[in-house]
Amino acid sequence: MSCPKGHRYAVVEGIPILLLGETLQTHIEGSRSLVVAELGEAARLPQFDVVPGRIDPFVQNAIAATNGSLYQHLVGKLTEYPIPKLKLPSGDGKLFLEIGCSWGRWCIAASRIGYRAVGVDPSLKGVRAARRVARQLGVDARYVVADGRYLPFRDGLFDQVFSYSVLQHLPKQDVYLALRAIQDVLRPGGHREARDFEVRYWTPRELVSAFHSAIGPAHISVDGYFSLNAQISDVLFLPPKYRAIVRASESLRKISEVFPLLAYVADSLYITASRQQ
Ligand SMILES: C[S@@+](CC[C@H](N)C(=O)[O-])C[C@H]1O[C@@H](n2cnc3c(N)ncnc32)[C@H](O)[C@@H]1O
Repeated sequence: MSCPKGHRYAVVEGIPILLLGETLQTHIEGSRSLVVAELGEAARLPQFDVVPGRIDPFVQNAIAATNGSLYQHLVGKLTEYPIPKLKLPSGDGKLFLEIGCSWGRWCIAASRIGYRAVGVDPSLKGVRAARRVARQLGVDARYVVADGRYLPFRDGLFDQVFSYSVLQHLPKQDVYLALRAIQDVLRPGGHREARDFEVRYWTPRELVSAFHSAIGPAHISVDGYFSLNAQISDVLFLPPKYRAIVRASESLRKISEVFPLLAYVADSLYITASRQQ
């Protein structure tokens, strides 16, 4: 494949690898995807079949990396896919883009409430798994290998752009690149110093101001307290001591809807920004 700017892209097992080889990758799996694209070594990737009722081996292995350390005890032991609830209005066929989708739990969630979901991730392994899981669950979601900083989509294509547990891992200058890329692909009127992949901390004010200046009017709301990433919809996956934490977090999250200042002491936040005309 090639683009109007003259970049050429390999297609591996039918998956376009839409990464820019000349840029430093933000994740080791992005570099691995480029090596596979360059050398055509797809045959050396682990080959997993879609087996009805079996949890995909990639997901079994990656569950604590995607969902957070409270899920560590589930590595290799999942008996179903933890699919979260997406806090968005129903999709009615609108186009939803997820940046950093890995095996696709948020795209599946988006698809279940009526969005046409597209996931990008620089990890070919993640995208292959996302395609397998979608096939297994009968979900119509599309996935390509791409980088949130250089989104390979036309201007104004998506009604919603969503990302979970990705941007805080990137150097701040890369987050600004991603925000500009998001602004480009977002339909007008739509809603929308660490090293390597370590977490970056933003103040809520910094987050609102970055999203506000790059995309449009922005506000924060709470995802959770006391820990990162545990979802109330997954509470039965967790041991009792963690359930209490997640339930307390959910109660505080509800209270924060009435007392928004509580968002300033949350551990995990959503940012919603709307592109103006
Ligand atoms: C902690 S996982 C979260 C996965 C998914 N969002 C979820 O919540 O299940 C972080 C993901 O970000 C992806 N990632 C790293 N650099 C990225 C980039 N530049 N653009 C998009 N995704 C990126 C990684 O490959 C990884 O799959």
